[in-house]
Amino acid sequence: MANIQWYPGHMAKARREAKEKLNLVDIVIELVDARIPESSRNPIIQEIIANKPSILVLNKSDLADPQVTKRWLEEYKSQGQTALAIDAQHSKGLKELTNTCKVLMNDYFEKQKRKGVKPRPIRLMILGIPNVGKSTLINRFVGKNQAQTGNKPGVTKAQRWLKIGKDFELLDTPGILWPKFEDPATGKYLALTGAIKDQLLEMQELSLVFIQHLQQFYPTILEEYYQLGQTKDKSSAEILSLLTKKMGLGEDYHQAGEKLIQDFRQHKLGNISLDQPIESVDHNER
Ligand code: G4P
Repeated sequence: MANIQWYPGHMAKARREAKEKLNLVDIVIELVDARIPESSRNPIIQEIIANKPSILVLNKSDLADPQVTKRWLEEYKSQGQTALAIDAQHSKGLKELTNTCKVLMNDYFEKQKRKGVKPRPIRLMILGIPNVGKSTLINRFVGKNQAQTGNKPGVTKAQRWLKIGKDFELLDTPGILWPKFEDPATGKYLALTGAIKDQLLEMQELSLVFIQHLQQFYPTILEEYYQLGQTKDKSSAEILSLLTKKMGLGEDYHQAGEKLIQDFRQHKLGNISLDQPIESVDHNER
């Protein structure tokens, strides 16, 4: 899913399809990557969701800096947005997510009950840009016992509901939206996490952006992982040069940059958040 190319026609179609699905559900689960909760949000998400109850879910929290994730959650809650962090890969936080859905629907169901209407399952959909973990979350939610939709000839491709316990129904296909790749800064963060196609990017330049970020927010990670020695007063280019030598790559800065980014994506460097809340004090000043 990571390599969709978005053109205005695709965006209009994605938006239309998301709106159609939205009409069918009670709650939207807006999924983002916890390492880049802002950069991985669709630019017009609020307009698309409109007044539908929504939960902003920061997935891949196992890869993000827990302190930063906590601050993002506080920030979103202070804006009145229901938000929580999960790790879909390892099925962590799913119970909290369904409990939150129930809380959001409580008033509605109370009203129905007073009218004598039997509660029905809460209908959910997942919405987000590519690579944030939508399919993973659907699979984890549903477990192994549900058959997937078969694309059999002659069978109309309709919306299907997957049961989650007795209280929920989940649309079997997520709403896919486009990322904010128009903005060069967010584009770089999306690229670092692998959400945007690698071939479109200059790896060396991207690695310099990453090194600069680490120097500001996680100044000892590179020193420790690659045993670089003191890097405090060095420029990003000097650090990349050191790293290239350390990796035994001569002067192939491009390949060293690529290796650094792979190490980050494979979680070898530890928990790192790229988007930092504005009030973040960088670690050098602590
Ligand atoms: P999508 O439907 O939103 O496009 O995302 P998908 O579920 O395909 O997940 C994208 C990648 O992210 C997958 O890795 C998936 O395993 C991983 N992922 C999803 N949720 C989590 C999470 O909570 N924690 C971690 N660590 N990883 C998660 P992949 O199969 O290796 O795909 P890719 O790297 O080729 O994109």
